[in-house]
Parts: sequence; structure tokens; C-alpha cells
Amino acid sequence: MTSSPPGAPAPHLTRTPPGTPGAQAGPPFVHFGPELLGAALGGVPAGAVEEFTGSWDDLPADTHLGTGTPYRFRRYGLFRIRPDRLERLPHTAFFQDKSVNKVHGGVPRLFAPLTGAVAGGEVLRTVVHTLRRHLPGPRAGMDTCGVHQIRVTATTRTEGHPAPEGVHQDGHCYVAQVLIRREGVSGAESALYDLRSRPVHRALLTAPLETIVLDDRRLLHGVSPVRPAPGASSGVRDMLLVDFFPGGGDGPAGDGDGFTDGEGGTLPG
Ligand SMILES: [Fe+2]
Repeated sequence: MTSSPPGAPAPHLTRTPPGTPGAQAGPPFVHFGPELLGAALGGVPAGAVEEFTGSWDDLPADTHLGTGTPYRFRRYGLFRIRPDRLERLPHTAFFQDKSVNKVHGGVPRLFAPLTGAVAGGEVLRTVVHTLRRHLPGPRAGMDTCGVHQIRVTATTRTEGHPAPEGVHQDGHCYVAQVLIRREGVSGAESALYDLRSRPVHRALLTAPLETIVLDDRRLLHGVSPVRPAPGASSGVRDMLLVDFFPGGGDGPAGDGDGFTDGEGGTLPG
């Protein structure tokens, strides 16, 4: 891939994805209980899963928030999705167009990188491969993903905003939202809308590994503020977000993208 100067987005990885989704017929989202990823991770040592979820305790503050009191903490990584592994791509800034993010769009945001243990671990590979098999639409060419570890906290004095930009699109093809942890929290209701802002789905993610996967080209999404639960002085909500899109890099992007993971196929994990 073309290298970019520090702080600059990699142009071919951050372009606005094709505006025409491949499958107009199917539902534009899927909402899974914790069973999907729970089953997929059943073959992974429990210690590895605990280490993965525990890594949310080591996220630096999001310095791009522009608030006096940080309430969002995150790490980010970029990968080419190979049939048997995730190939880590050079760390680069995360970039969204201003048309999809009116708060932070148009500004490259350089987040802390994922740790080597998270990026190279069996848990992340298993999760990404599983999510890719359950995209709400064609997955051909979806060979690249951005991985965000995000923690939003709330106290009685400072509420947390998972989506300070309000209802929005992320500027990708598909986006998976995986709940990792929700403790002492009220609010944080997820909402999906069609492109005319008509409500499509509302959900409160409460069970760890509960997951929504949406077609970002066909839906808008938002999350209500995070507040401490009644009687709690603080709360925390940890999310894993995975953005899927064509990398346009060194691999073919059509059906023959090297994967043999058709329904009933052989892609591991
Ligand atoms: Fe978003």
C-alpha cells in the first residue's frame, strides 16, 4: 500500500465507499445475541478471551474529543483480512469525510494503535472472520477492516457520548458493533434509521458479545448518551467496532478474493 505521512489518512483506505450497496433486497442489518460470537470463541482458550476483554482497561484517552474531562478512550488498528489471518497494515490516522461526521469529519485522527497482543491474537481474528461471514449483504471484496476498541465512561458529573456527532454514517461499507462490557450504565441505546431518517431498529445492547452488524451505505445510526445507572456514581461501556470495506490494495476485490468462506465454506473461526 502507499505509505502516508504521519497523521495523514491513507487515501485509498479512506475514500468514500461505493454508494450503491450490492444487495438492496436483504435487511440492511442483523442483530445477534451473544451466542454467535460466544460460540465462535468457544474454541479459543478462556484466558485469551479474558486478556482480550481486559485490554479495554488499557485504552488511552481520545485526545480528539475536545472536552476538558475525557470520557472516551480508544485504540485503532487497520488490517487486510486474509482467509487464515489478519494482516496488520501500517498504523495511520482514522479519517471520516465531513459529509458523514460533522463533528470530527475532515480531520485525520491519530488514535493509539492496538497492542500487539490484541492485534495478533486469536480472539480478534476469530471475531473478525465470524463477523465477515455475517455481513448483511455481499461480502465479496470486503478484504479490509478497521478495528476500534472504545470505552465510554460516565459519572454523575460527566455523561459520556458514544456518538457526539449524533445520528450519522461512518463512511464505510459495513460496521459491526460488539458490546464487550456494560457496567453501572443507563442509556446508550443504539438506534438505526433509513437514509430518510425513519427509525428502523432500536436496541439496548446488554449482554457481552451482543452484536449489531449494519450496512453503513443503507443506514444511519446513533447511540444515546451514557449515564450512570441509578445509585451508581460511575459507569463504563466498552465496545469493539469493526469497519469493513474494500481496501483497493494488492488483492482482487471481486468474488474471487481468495476466500473460501461461502455459506458452508471453510474459513476458520
Ligand atoms: Fe458510528
